Amino acid sequence: MKALVPETRMNTLVDGFGRKHTYLRISVTDKCNLRCFYCMPLEGIVWKRREELLDFEEIVRVADIFVRKGIDKIRLTGGEPLMRRDLHLLVEMLSKLEGLNTIAMTTNATLLAENAQRLKDAGITQLNISIDSFKQDRFQTLTGRDDLQRVMRGIEEAQRVGFSQIKLNVVAIAGVNEDEIIDFVDYVKDTRMNVRFIEFMPFRDNDWNVERVLTYAEMLKMIGEKFQLVPIETEPSAVAKDFSIVGHSGTVSFITSMSESFCSTCNRIRLTADGSIKSCLFYPAEVSLRDRIRAGATDADIEEMIMYSLGQKPEAHPPAEEIAAEHNRSMIEIGG
Ligand code: GTP
Ligand code: 5AD
Ligand code: SF4
Repeated sequence: MKALVPETRMNTLVDGFGRKHTYLRISVTDKCNLRCFYCMPLEGIVWKRREELLDFEEIVRVADIFVRKGIDKIRLTGGEPLMRRDLHLLVEMLSKLEGLNTIAMTTNATLLAENAQRLKDAGITQLNISIDSFKQDRFQTLTGRDDLQRVMRGIEEAQRVGFSQIKLNVVAIAGVNEDEIIDFVDYVKDTRMNVRFIEFMPFRDNDWNVERVLTYAEMLKMIGEKFQLVPIETEPSAVAKDFSIVGHSGTVSFITSMSESFCSTCNRIRLTADGSIKSCLFYPAEVSLRDRIRAGATDADIEEMIMYSLGQKPEAHPPAEEIAAEHNRSMIEIGG
């Protein structure tokens, strides 16, 4: 990954509201080995066949076009990205793209212990790890699998290997894991990790309702009773509000999609595993590149489709109740 001097590269990924896009989230598979209820529709999904997914060469070709147009950070997502065989080879290929500064990944960590070193060597520098409970039975109820120990081993190995940044993603759900919020803050005390509490978001058939959203304000109050939090200056396009904790080396953050949205500074665009550009997490419209690529689309054709998708990006996501009713893809198919 060679950083270009900024003057040599103009960012042309600007949407209809003047927002520059620098962050591409690539879903590499729709498959997952967990069954988190908030992520998958109740009835499950039909996994895509191998040939429906972009292969590594196709992903890198699209990523290269994006990077030349101004993307400097790529995050690999899923489903669970480590369900995609030889993922480290994709990371190696992406790490050769000139102008790309960061390759990150979001994972459920069940397969991380055995892959962490390989991923770091290939070029991943930042890891976000999903974990919503430290209690074995609750973890199993939430995810449908008895995998807490594997996840804990994954988190330990990731720290040992020494990624430059590790964040723990906790989806905070009222009546489910609110009694563990303090435990999570305690857990990062003597680490360099950041624990992030994410407000529960609605997706197709994911059992969302407004009473289950544990809000930023509620969590701040709970944590504030026990710890002293000090706000940290955050980059304008970050989705999280960050705090240091007096006496802790670890930090805490909140992703407030439901109570305080952050669409006005959005710098994200998504490529789904089956090759569609998705300009907004909560907006169903997509532009499919895959079949056009396979029919011989030129780079200029692909650029045009990317710009068309950006042109469709809404100014902000609709209210939560409308999102829940929309025919958007489920979270497992988008990757967050
Ligand atoms: P960083 O690169 O560390 O900022 O990670 P991230 O927060 O972008 O990525 P991650 O995959 O860890 O996602 C954490 C949470 O943020 C998930 O619940 C995502 O669904 C949510 N999220 C990511 N991008 C967006 C977005 O554009 N809009 C909203 N509302 N939520 C998002
Ligand atoms: N609400 C909030 N966060 C969610 N995630 C998955 N589904 C939801 C939801 N409905 C989180 C996962 C993962 C990240 C990509 O998105 O926990 O950390
Ligand atoms: Fe899998 Fe992550 Fe979705 Fe859970 S949240 S089902 S671990 S992709």
